Amino acid sequence: MAEAERWDEVYAHEPELYTTKPNALLVEVAERLSPGRALDIGVGQGRNARYLAGRGWQVTGVDVSAEGVRQTAAAGGVTVVRQAVEEFEMGEAEWDLILGMYVHGVLLRASGRIVAALKPGGLLVVEGFHRDVMKLGIGGLTGGLLGYQTNALLRHFTALRVERYQDCTALADWRQIEAPIVRMVARKEA
Ligand SMILES: C[S@@+](CC[C@H](N)C(=O)[O-])C[C@H]1O[C@@H](n2cnc3c(N)ncnc32)[C@H](O)[C@@H]1O
Repeated sequence: MAEAERWDEVYAHEPELYTTKPNALLVEVAERLSPGRALDIGVGQGRNARYLAGRGWQVTGVDVSAEGVRQTAAAGGVTVVRQAVEEFEMGEAEWDLILGMYVHGVLLRASGRIVAALKPGGLLVVEGFHRDVMKLGIGGLTGGLLGYQTNALLRHFTALRVERYQDCTALADWRQIEAPIVRMVARKEA
């Protein structure tokens, strides 16, 4: 699985490519939530999952990278599953919060199951690159496309009520560069 192997290399040898801080949008959203059950899709090294666990959340992270899963599990406090999201059983009305940070197509391909897996009243929190990031010469790790096309998140998650959507230029978590970014906070109506 080329994608998993490439991420294994990044996590083992290029730790500086990723901020170790939790995502700022997540922090802002989580500060006003009571802890519950959270699913981190593409948990990576676990920076966001660990942050939530530290606030009392019961967190599950899923990722294809053995090294990402190893590092997240080693830090403790998070249930980690090494599996492709496409094969991961998310369940129905299971999660109070689902995160998708810098996972792009992985998230879009699972959109229907994500909506079903949220509890009524549950939140989806997403940040990632806009596809325009490729104009800066940055592409997918395995050479593919990177980022969300304009309004792709809105189109894929029409079943949710969008509380916040931003298409802007900001400091990205990945590579920590000023880049075109998309952010979304959306709720499954109760
Ligand atoms: C850019 S990293 C983001 C990591 C983490 N969300 C963060 O923001 O720190 C993308 C992650 O998605 C994972 N990934 C890629 N394809 C996946 C798939 N089909 N299922 C699960 N995880 C996947 C990679 O292994 C990698 O850890």
